Amino acid sequence: MLTIESLKVRYGGIVALHEVSIEVQRGETVLLVGSNGAGKSSLINAVIGLVPNVSGRIQFDGRDLAGMSCAARARLGIGYSPEGRRVFSSLSVTENVLSSTLGHPVAKVGENLAWIRKTFPLVVERARQPANQLSGGQQQIVALARAVSTMPKLLLLDEPFLGLAPIWIERISDAIRELQRRGTTILMTEQMARPALKLVDRAYVMRSGEIRRSGTVEEIRGVALAEEYL
Ligand SMILES: Nc1ncnc2c1ncn2[C@@H]1O[C@H](COP(=O)(O)OP(=O)(O)O)[C@@H](O)[C@H]1O
Ligand SMILES: [Mg+2]
Repeated sequence: MLTIESLKVRYGGIVALHEVSIEVQRGETVLLVGSNGAGKSSLINAVIGLVPNVSGRIQFDGRDLAGMSCAARARLGIGYSPEGRRVFSSLSVTENVLSSTLGHPVAKVGENLAWIRKTFPLVVERARQPANQLSGGQQQIVALARAVSTMPKLLLLDEPFLGLAPIWIERISDAIRELQRRGTTILMTEQMARPALKLVDRAYVMRSGEIRRSGTVEEIRGVALAEEYL
């Protein structure tokens, strides 16, 4: 579903990604694990179109994403939950969830919102509350609901556990499992390998803008442990 070949991302003189190649198959959940500065967000942001790639190729569903706007990528079926959640703090929960649905077919969005309300009761309970009155964990639920409000085929999740207490890591994990049950393909990043490895099919270990290892959860668990990501 997603094929990234020799992707290079640079910020001025800083090379954030050196020729990174990864693949995500339909129906899989794939993890990019690595410490701060490894290049995880740069990769996610290149896929959604927030940072330009210097070279390399990103293909989604057989289409080359080069030159396509973020909105066009979203319309193709890519959902995005940014690092640090970045909810619109003064907007209500409902407004946050609806904010990414502009330009998407109304009927499909309506049907999907019913699923979101059922799956994430918080979205109903806190519908009118400004997002900045919510806890970090609650905001992450809102960010997830917003990211899937258009029923994306591929969901990009950048560090969904960042700064959250264990109870919220569990709840966010449950929410991710619901999305998996629904058939959503997921590419997620984390520094915290232990809870993330419980959710995924495969993982890539990133460091200094490169993929250092890739493999099944079992193969990666040992590496991640050795590299102290756990
Ligand atoms: N906007 C930016 N301007 C300059 N350097 C950046 C910017 N964003 C990220 N970097 C650098 O790129 C590298 C990779 O960062 P990032 O992709 O954010 O890693 P991660 O998400 O794994 O923490 C780091 O060295 C970081 O300092
Ligand atoms: Mg990051």
